[in-house]
Amino acid sequence: MWPCAISLVLLFAQLGHTASTSSTCRNIPGSSGYPSPAQWNAFNSTISGRLVTVVPSAKYCRSLPVGACTEEQWTSALFRSMIPGAMDQVNWEQGYDLEPPSLCLQNGTTCGQGDVPFYSVEAETIEDIQSAVKFARAYNLRLAIKASGHDFLGRSTAPSSLLIRTSKFRNLSFTDAFFVGNNNMGSAVTIGSGVYTNTLYEHARANGKTVVVGAAATIVPAGGYIQGGGHSALSPLYGLAADNALEFQIVDANGGLLQVNSISHPELFYALRGGGAGSWGVIISVTIKSFPTFNATQTTTSLLAANESVASELSIVHAKHIFDWDSVHASQYVSLVRTSTAAGSPVFFEITIYMPNRTTSQSEALTAPFLNASLMLPGVSLIDQQSQYADINSILFQTDDNVGSNAVLGKVAENFNISSAVHPAWRTAKSHIFVINAWEDSASLEEIRAFRNEFQITQLPILKTIAGPNSGAYSNEADVLEPDFQHTFFGPNYAKLNTIKRTYDPHDLFIVGAGIGSERWDEWGICKV
Ligand SMILES: *[C@@H]1O[C@H](CO)[C@@H](O)[C@H](O)[C@H]1NC(C)=O
Ligand SMILES: *[C@@H]1O[C@H](CO)[C@@H](O)[C@H](O)[C@H]1NC(C)=O
Ligand SMILES: *[C@@H]1O[C@H](CO)[C@@H](O)[C@H](O)[C@H]1NC(C)=O
Ligand SMILES: *[C@@H]1O[C@H](CO)[C@@H](O)[C@H](O)[C@H]1NC(C)=O
Ligand SMILES: *[C@@H]1O[C@H](CO)[C@@H](O)[C@H](O)[C@H]1NC(C)=O
Ligand SMILES: *[C@@H]1O[C@H](CO)[C@@H](O)[C@H](O)[C@H]1NC(C)=O
Ligand SMILES: *[C@@H]1O[C@H](CO)[C@@H](O)[C@H](O)[C@H]1NC(C)=O
Ligand SMILES: *[C@@H]1O[C@H](CO)[C@@H](O)[C@H](O)[C@H]1NC(C)=O
Repeated sequence: MWPCAISLVLLFAQLGHTASTSSTCRNIPGSSGYPSPAQWNAFNSTISGRLVTVVPSAKYCRSLPVGACTEEQWTSALFRSMIPGAMDQVNWEQGYDLEPPSLCLQNGTTCGQGDVPFYSVEAETIEDIQSAVKFARAYNLRLAIKASGHDFLGRSTAPSSLLIRTSKFRNLSFTDAFFVGNNNMGSAVTIGSGVYTNTLYEHARANGKTVVVGAAATIVPAGGYIQGGGHSALSPLYGLAADNALEFQIVDANGGLLQVNSISHPELFYALRGGGAGSWGVIISVTIKSFPTFNATQTTTSLLAANESVASELSIVHAKHIFDWDSVHASQYVSLVRTSTAAGSPVFFEITIYMPNRTTSQSEALTAPFLNASLMLPGVSLIDQQSQYADINSILFQTDDNVGSNAVLGKVAENFNISSAVHPAWRTAKSHIFVINAWEDSASLEEIRAFRNEFQITQLPILKTIAGPNSGAYSNEADVLEPDFQHTFFGPNYAKLNTIKRTYDPHDLFIVGAGIGSERWDEWGICKV
């Protein structure tokens, strides 16, 4: 599992914001301070003509010579990441909350700009980014930053904004000795903020190394992933991705280029490792530790529970066995999927366990106590168990991610317990419970509102009873509508992060939904509240 212009005048008329000259609002089309066409052109020449107009992905598809994208293209994260306006989950492109709502659906007959930026800087050099940040500051524009569009909270898009895209920053280099000041931090890899996870795994393998990054093909580790903390299948072994970050290169809110490490800018370094995606600057690259590679077994066990009460019994059995694989530093991913929405229908339970340095038979032996106990429950049957033994980079490599649908995510961590800004509650989480609320394009706006709010209203209270009152949420895979995001996403670190934000971004240039300082802004990051 796991983004032919119509008249600009028309586009602007669809926006729900009233143009304002007030200094408490950013300039949007129609505001007196908004750049004129001549000013946009002048800016475009400072960035070697790399300014493009942006359209929603459905509109992009309609502009193709054949008039549509194939279903394969629409659902491919690799394909979508080449379209400046595309998000992986298409709901983030929609302006459900604009007045009037502004949507652009795959097979729709009308198309509004929605929450898609107007222009994108398709950056190729650091100077392009510096110019874009300075232009946004000079004209008081809403800025959005995007690497690949693999983003479960819709933070890399915003209506009426100027987008900076870092997808062309594909530099990648390994070293055996990375220095922070005079300290040799050992072997490491520096990756640009356009390098996909799957590219990194390929190169790591070729270099006899591995790295603590995610699994989905188009996560860009140097982008929002590490700023949110970065959970990985290798976390039980080597900690979070944020723990393994040694240095960042960023363009800050003044357009300056900073080399951020524990010596040069300790507070900003802390904030960049778990203090929230998109809140600190435009990431150019990150350097993370690398480790000698090893073989591992991935064992996936698929069970069928006859109904929801059986599924809940099965979850209890799983909870009892949750520590079974700690001795081998394994990680585990669990999903429960209802086979139909009808009450009493079977539930599909799948657990994938990654066991470092274990053969297939060793891994299956370690899974047997859980499997046996599960099969003792009336109503549980084994669909199948499959194991794969290979280099860890090959195990975690994925070619592409299947996307292109409407979905919002809610997530809490189960069973808990830094000097980085990662919320302590999910640092030692044993298991991550995902709730995905998805809908079809045919859903009405009322239904969509209900889907978007379902996590807060009905599901979260249930999850809290499982996970306990002090459970946290992983801010990269959570609900952007989380009202108490300061506490839920950042726990005791919020106040310190806010102080760091005031030092490095006093004008709130880098504001994202449910991110540091976002309580000072409206839902769109356009006006102060
Ligand atoms: C920016 O300049 C390039 C090259 O001249 C041009 O192709 C492009 O259309 C311009 N962008 C905008 C938004 O006008
Ligand atoms: C749009 O049309 C295509 C081709 O008929 C179909 O495969 C796809 O499922 C449709 N998508 C939606 C969201 O209705
Ligand atoms: C990529 O690497 C080249 C060669 O080292 C360098 O000139 C360039 O500035 C780098 N680009 C970025 C965006 O870091
Ligand atoms: C895997 O086994 C090798 C050989 O025993 C050992 O050197 C290495 O540290 C182990 N790696 C992990 C991740 O357990
Ligand atoms: C699991 O069950 C199988 C057959 O029912 C048995 O051979 C095996 O010893 C059991 N393993 C454990 C760890 O209980
Ligand atoms: C669920 O399935 C179990 C096992 O087949 C059965 O005993 C139980 O009555 C079922 N419960 C409900 C609510 O259908
Ligand atoms: C890893 O597995 C491959 C076969 O899949 C094997 O050739 C290689 O020797 C193994 N490496 C280690 C370190 O065990
Ligand atoms: C919490 O985590 C820290 C660091 O990983 C560890 O030292 C500590 O013992 C843990 N506390 C509990 C209650 O598990």
